[in-house]
Amino acid sequence: MSVSSPLAGKKILLGIAGGIAAYKCVELTRRLTEFGADVRVVMTTSAKSFITPLTMQAVSGHAVADDLLDPNAQSGMGHIELAKWADLILLAPATANLIARLRAGFADELLTTLCLASPAPIAVSPAMNMEMYLASATQENIAVLAQRGMHIWGPGEGPQACGDIGPGRMLEAHQLVDLVVDFFAPQKAIFKNVNITITAGPTQEALDPVRYISNHSSGKMGFALAEVAQKMGANVTLITGPVALTCAANINRIDIKSALDMHAASLQTLDHCDIFIACAAVADYRPEVIAQEKMKKQSGVENLTLHLVKNPDIIADVANHLDRPFCVGFAAETENVEAYALDKLQRKNLDLIAANDVAKADQGFNSEKNALTVFAAKQRFDITLADKKKVAQQLLEVIHQQYSTTNND
Ligand code: C5P
Repeated sequence: MSVSSPLAGKKILLGIAGGIAAYKCVELTRRLTEFGADVRVVMTTSAKSFITPLTMQAVSGHAVADDLLDPNAQSGMGHIELAKWADLILLAPATANLIARLRAGFADELLTTLCLASPAPIAVSPAMNMEMYLASATQENIAVLAQRGMHIWGPGEGPQACGDIGPGRMLEAHQLVDLVVDFFAPQKAIFKNVNITITAGPTQEALDPVRYISNHSSGKMGFALAEVAQKMGANVTLITGPVALTCAANINRIDIKSALDMHAASLQTLDHCDIFIACAAVADYRPEVIAQEKMKKQSGVENLTLHLVKNPDIIADVANHLDRPFCVGFAAETENVEAYALDKLQRKNLDLIAANDVAKADQGFNSEKNALTVFAAKQRFDITLADKKKVAQQLLEVIHQQYSTTNND
């Protein structure tokens, strides 16, 4: 069990239907149990074509239930006891077929019977080919399940096993675990009706149609902030440079490439922005001219000089706006962290600055973890090394406290 066990004592019945995404259930079960949950697995007959009950037994630590009419299984935890036992039924992957059977109220095998017989809340994680997902029958079925109070978690978008690209991928194990954690301990909506703009990721400064100057920012910190802020009730606009990350559909995501694009998009949000968090690693300079055609290597030319011009400072411009929002900057430093951060706080006219030492190997750029020291004009808060989502939560709590104080002055 992990040190923090947000799911300690929670009983989760994982229902696996027959889809290729069933392989994700190994990781899902492992993570749920690591978080302290007691996981019992029920598989449909077709699920066993994709993953074996033995594998699921090994990761969950319990025999897998799969047969409504098995006298041995019924003499242990019978289907009615299993139905009563669960705190949450998680159906992942929920195929188009399982979703249709749930809607119709079938009790044709153990899993569908349990869903009918259980008073527990049910979460459905759809996984199927995009055309099947977009088919009106499936859409109607999902809408009916949602109306009945079932939680619909996903699907995600991206490449599918069949080669198509689109909606229908089962959410990743870590995303489902986050949803389960939120389900049991929902975030307090401290930012209800608050509009938050967050910049994230790197910017790309084009040299020609195929080349650019950029940096190693992964965008993970900004995306974690966006996700947690949204769960805390905020209306979130996420302005992001090119990154390999997805975000929840109810986050207003604006994809940009250059610092100038990010600057324009940021200023456009200011009519409805209460808090502005600049997490992006914006390029300080951009090429003065962008070549119309690909720049050719010239024989005999050993050195090339690029002329760069300074990019606008996005957060400084936001902070100097007439009706300015509460402004939070980041300072990624490799030395003199506190001195540089405090200088930026003052020079850019910010309310808060979150400083991190990116020279440390286990935090900052591209890492899963981060540690921050947050400075206000006269206060300082330390957020110790943790997963970026946990850090995001703590930073947003500091922001909320400071923002509320400023607003009530
Ligand atoms: O790059 P620098 O250390 O100055 O970044 C400090 C803060 O300013 C960060 O929050 C960053 O997102 C923001 N910034 C910006 N526009 C720039 C440069 C930095 O908003 N052109």
